[in-house]
Amino acid sequence: MSGGDRPDRLNAEALRSACAGQCFGHRLEVLEEVTSTNDILLQLASKNHEGLVIFAERQTAGRGQRSNRWESAEGKGLWFSILLRPSIALAEAPRLTAWAARTVAATINEMLSLGATVKPPNDVYLVGRKVAGVLLEMRAVAHAQHLGILGIGLNVNQTLTDFPEELRERAGSLALANGGAIKREELAIALLRKLDRSYRELAL
Ligand code: BTN
Repeated sequence: MSGGDRPDRLNAEALRSACAGQCFGHRLEVLEEVTSTNDILLQLASKNHEGLVIFAERQTAGRGQRSNRWESAEGKGLWFSILLRPSIALAEAPRLTAWAARTVAATINEMLSLGATVKPPNDVYLVGRKVAGVLLEMRAVAHAQHLGILGIGLNVNQTLTDFPEELRERAGSLALANGGAIKREELAIALLRKLDRSYRELAL
């Protein structure tokens, strides 16, 4: 089946145009299948500027904190990474993780009027279930700003059976809490806008 036959695919052109004029997402790709968007972004980092965004419809080796596997059901969530070049020491990286988790929760709450909360350091919860997580991977760069690969995974339209059995007690999605499907592209745009604005307000 081609991407065009499937409903609710992310459209790179539409996302780029919604992000025109901002740092995050003015350069952006949507890939069909990758191992991990963090891996792809790391490969592209040396030739790209801050703000490059890579989305994938499906990750075959999505990962979370502490080497956990991150379930990335095809077309059901938002799986993406943003290239950062923050002016901070490596030891300060947890500030960025906290900012990203806070911003994901705030975007969910503004767009859907749901009560998402952050469980430090990197989780976002909704009605007692984890709906999103942040994985920031930093690389030191000699005589230059360090590299930050900010990976965000957000469960959007999964039903419980989309999760493997061992996760069904604790994983959730926005659709489960909202009582209906959510347009992923609208959510992606809202997230990139809020992340972009709030990143510039951080005193880095
Ligand atoms: C966690 O909660 O442990 C963090 C999960 C982070 C998952 C995202 S999905 C996009 C990016 N690519 C990955 O392999 N991981 C992050």
